Amino acid sequence: MAWFGDAHHKKREVEVFAYVELTQRQLQAPGLLLVCADGAGKPNAMTIGWGFIGFIWNWPMFVVPVRPQRYTHGLIEARGDFTVNVMPANLAEVVSYCGSVSGREHDKFAERGLTAEPGARVSSPRIAEAMIQYECQVVYKDDVKLDLLDPEAAKACYPGGDWHRLFFGRILAVHAEEVKSK
Ligand SMILES: Cc1cc2nc3c(=O)[nH]c(=O)nc-3n(C[C@H](O)[C@H](O)[C@H](O)COP(=O)(O)O)c2cc1C
Repeated sequence: MAWFGDAHHKKREVEVFAYVELTQRQLQAPGLLLVCADGAGKPNAMTIGWGFIGFIWNWPMFVVPVRPQRYTHGLIEARGDFTVNVMPANLAEVVSYCGSVSGREHDKFAERGLTAEPGARVSSPRIAEAMIQYECQVVYKDDVKLDLLDPEAAKACYPGGDWHRLFFGRILAVHAEEVKSK
């Protein structure tokens, strides 16, 4: 199969788990971009380094952990869906930027030249420059409960008690780059 990074490419819908391995590798470094939009449709991207793809309730699922203080938290609560975008290696700086400033004060799409593309199955936009785009609808959410968490993880990850909310996003569509053979 043709691979990413070629100029002559377009995206096509792929099987939901087709790129799990690459997605998980990118999640660890440099991170993925979690995208949602405000009520007026203005997009925002935040970096995630944690999350998982799996299967539950007969649905493919992307679970993303979002701390309540993130601007993204309120956006997902209000909209009920999100996209997860795997960016190409040459945009690693953009991934890092989206994890360092908040959409409350910054228009990260404009500041980093990202293009919002309408979701095919969800109301949240996708990032046109991404290699892989997951479209997810929130079907369940839950907060990390520190008394139920392994004490080592609780101490290391939540010294300030600022637990994550886990948003369970049913994966409705995945689009990935395809290089067209000439
Ligand atoms: C590599 C990396 C991974 C991150 N992973 C997460 C994460 O999984 N969950 C989270 O809530 N914040 C995470 N953050 C922090 C947010 O991306 C950061 O606070 C961001 O500015 C929030 O943007 P927002 O306020 O526009 O939503 C991460 C940051 C970086 C740099």
